[in-house]
Amino acid sequence: KKPGSTVLVIFGASGDLSQRKLVPALYNLMLDSWLPDNFAMIGVSHHDRTTDDLREILKDGVSKYSRRDFRGNGDWERLSSSITYYKADFTNPESYKGLAEELDAYDEKWGTKANRIFYLSVSPQFIEPIAQNINTSGIANSIENSRIVVEKPFGRDYDSAEHLNKKLREHFKESQIYRIDHYLGKETVQNIMAFRFANTIFEPLWNRNYIDSVQITVAETVGVEHRGNYYDKSGALRDMIQNHLLQLLCMVAMEPPITYEADEIQNRKVDVLHSVRPFSTDEKVQEDTVRGQYFEGVVEGETIEGYRDAKGTAEESNTETYAAMKVYLDNWRWKDVPFYLRTGKSMPEKNTSITIQFKPVSHKLFPSEATTNLPNLLTINIQPSMGVKLCMQAKKPGLKMSLNKVGMTFDYDDAFTEATPEAYETLLLDVMQGDSTLFMRADQVEAAWKIVMPILNYWENNKEKEFPNYAAGSWGPQKADDLLERDGRSWLNV
Ligand code: BG6
Repeated sequence: KKPGSTVLVIFGASGDLSQRKLVPALYNLMLDSWLPDNFAMIGVSHHDRTTDDLREILKDGVSKYSRRDFRGNGDWERLSSSITYYKADFTNPESYKGLAEELDAYDEKWGTKANRIFYLSVSPQFIEPIAQNINTSGIANSIENSRIVVEKPFGRDYDSAEHLNKKLREHFKESQIYRIDHYLGKETVQNIMAFRFANTIFEPLWNRNYIDSVQITVAETVGVEHRGNYYDKSGALRDMIQNHLLQLLCMVAMEPPITYEADEIQNRKVDVLHSVRPFSTDEKVQEDTVRGQYFEGVVEGETIEGYRDAKGTAEESNTETYAAMKVYLDNWRWKDVPFYLRTGKSMPEKNTSITIQFKPVSHKLFPSEATTNLPNLLTINIQPSMGVKLCMQAKKPGLKMSLNKVGMTFDYDDAFTEATPEAYETLLLDVMQGDSTLFMRADQVEAAWKIVMPILNYWENNKEKEFPNYAAGSWGPQKADDLLERDGRSWLNV
C-alpha cells in the first residue's frame, strides 16, 4: 500500500549519500508508483544554496546512480518539483522556525497531518543537536506520524552508542527511531528469512547436528578511495563487522520467529548477539581474530595505491582494512559450530555470501578412489550474483563408480523477471509506511558493540607490527588462512 502524505526532511541533503542513494531511491520509487500522492522533500544543509542548486546536484546524482536509466522525459522534473532547499545551522534552534512554517504549510495545502520523516545523513556530532532541536521546536508533531532516521556510524564504541540511544530517547520514542543498516534492505538478505522459514526442508538440518561450520564473507574490490578521513578513524571492524556482518550472522543463526512482526524478529536477532561467546581475554582476541591492511597491488587489472598512501590516512596508520574472526554462539542450536566472518577492501572480487558447510556423511560407503570427499555446501549469494547454490556429489556417468561435485542453483535472474529494488528503496518505503522490521533497535546496536569492544580495544592498544600485510587484489593476510587451517578448514571462495 502506498504511504500516506509525507514530507521527507533530509539533513545533509547535498551530501554523498543523498546523491548516490537516497534521491535515486526516491526516483525509482516514484517510477514504480510507490511515492505518496502528496509527497515533498525538504533538503537541509548549512550551505548557501537555492532550491535550483540542490535540484541540479541531485539530478546529477540520479542520472549517474539510479538503477534505471535516466530518461530525461519529464520523470525527473516530476520528482524535482517536489524538492525544495532549506538553509539551516543544525545546531541553532532559531533555524528550525522556518522549517516548522514550511512543514505546516504542507499540512495546510494537503488538508491533512502528513508524516514527517527526519532523515539524518550528517556527521555523527550533529545527531544529538538535531534530534534535540527537532523536539524542542515542536516540528515532530505526532508520535505516530513523526520519525527520525539515523544513519551509521551509530556511535564509535559501546559507550558512545549507549549515550546516543539515551539522548535520542530523550526526544523520541523507540518506535519513532529508525536506525539504518542498509544490508537489511538488500533483497537477498531479506530472502534469508524466506529461504529458512518458508520451506520445510532446510530448517531440520539447520543446527549443530548437521552443520559443520558457517562462513560469512563480505569482500569488496573498492579500496578506501576518497574516504580516508573517515575510514582511518574507523576500520573494518567498526565499518563492516559491528553492523553488516553481525546482522548477516543474526539472519542465518536466529531461531524461527513466531510472527512476522518487527519486535518479534528483532527479539530473535538480539538473542543471537547475546549468545556470542565473548572474546574475554587478549589471548582469545589474538587466537580468533585477524586484521589486515593492504599495500599497493592490482585489483581487476588496475593498480591500486597502498592504504597508507591514500588521501586522509596516516603514514603509519594502524587501521585495518581487513578483518576476520571466528565466533561461537553459546546456545542450544549452535554450540561449538564455528562461524567464520571476514571482510576486506581491495579484494580480488566483490563477493558477499554466506556458505553453510555440512558435516561429512556418517559412514563412507564408496571406495576411496570414487569419492572427491567434498562436503555439502549451501551458499547464499547476496551480491553481486544473487541466488542460492547447493553443492553435492553425484555419480559421474561411466562404467566406474566415480563421484563428482555438482550444483543445484537458484538464480534470481533466471527465476524472476522483476527488477530488484535497491536497499534504500525498500528502507525508505518502510520508513514512510512506519514499518521498522528492517531497522536496528537500540538493544541490537548495543549488543553488537559489546561483541566487538574487546577486539577494538586490543587492536587499538596493540599496534599491528606487520602492517601493511596483504597486497591489494589478494584475499587478505596469510594469518586469515591460518585461522581456518588450524581447524582443518579453508575459506571457500565460491
Ligand atoms: C558501508 C561502508 O556501510 O557499506 C562502506 O561504510 C562499504 O565502507 C559499504 O563500502 C558496502 O556496501 P555495499 O552495499 O556496497 O555492499
